[in-house]
Amino acid sequence: MTEVDLDVHRSESDITEQLRADVRAGLEADRKWLSPKWFYDARGSELFEKITALPEYYPTRSEREVLAARGGEIAESSGAHTLVELGSGSSEKTRLLLDALTDHGTLREFVPLDVSGTALAEAAEAIKADYPSLEIRGVVGDFTQHLDLLPGDRPRLVVFLGGTIGNFLPAERAAFLHSVREVLDEGEWLLLGTDLVKDRETLERAYDDAAGVTAEFNRNVLHVINNGLGANFDPAAFDHVSYWDEENEWVEMRLRAREAVTVDIPGADLLVKFAEGEYVRTEISAKFRRDGIAAELAEAGFSVEKWWTDSESRFGVSLARS
Ligand code: AVJ
Repeated sequence: MTEVDLDVHRSESDITEQLRADVRAGLEADRKWLSPKWFYDARGSELFEKITALPEYYPTRSEREVLAARGGEIAESSGAHTLVELGSGSSEKTRLLLDALTDHGTLREFVPLDVSGTALAEAAEAIKADYPSLEIRGVVGDFTQHLDLLPGDRPRLVVFLGGTIGNFLPAERAAFLHSVREVLDEGEWLLLGTDLVKDRETLERAYDDAAGVTAEFNRNVLHVINNGLGANFDPAAFDHVSYWDEENEWVEMRLRAREAVTVDIPGADLLVKFAEGEYVRTEISAKFRRDGIAAELAEAGFSVEKWWTDSESRFGVSLARS
């Protein structure tokens, strides 16, 4: 096995402490909610990989189409020496960019950042094997907290793909974009993937597939709380809900208690009551319009140099300059 350097800014005990705090904040609220970042233990990451191949879940394919078609332009515009990937997960789409930047001849370093140390190490090793001359510095961290620690030779191209920016609430999104802009020097780059507003049917189906994989992925957050905090959720007692909130322009995933239930969460010192039909919001996945995301990028201090969509205009990719 090749050796890849990992900078670790997140320990097991940090993670449990964070889970405890998030569970307390979210499940004691009037309208219950949980952060989508807790989906992604090993099982959740596997389920998400399966989601990306489902017929109903178009974003991965649509974004891949854009990256395959535009990699050369992205490399040429940015001339990046370092590719920084936030929330790298599995690095399949990243390879399209690594190929384009390698062909262009400027790329020296790849810096994947992910909350999951195991996923990161695996992905980094696989990339190292296929791009042996590339310097790889994995960062284990949370991209809402550890952006100031991004290494890399300038100019850097930060990529945030998959539409994951849609997981933030609007105010969090603005803060996040400002913090990315802040760590970049003038002339450095952000490549941002955003899923686009479309009809209710397509959107709700994308988050409620016929095979039930997304339902299992959604319920996985309850397994994560059971494992991490010794809770006694019965995941099978919750229905999976996918709902397009037209006003907020986001898809909401929910878990709805089929019957009244009290859940014991000893690791958070909590007894949580659900009424029959009461739900916990587990994810928002905001959908965007070209003008809206361009305005948000501008507000954060970026200038949008390029905008592309796939051939069906389902997914947008912005290339923005600091
Ligand atoms: C990984 C956040 C982009 O919001 O579409 C997929 C996660 N949730 N199916 C998304 C997800 C349900 C996904 N992101």
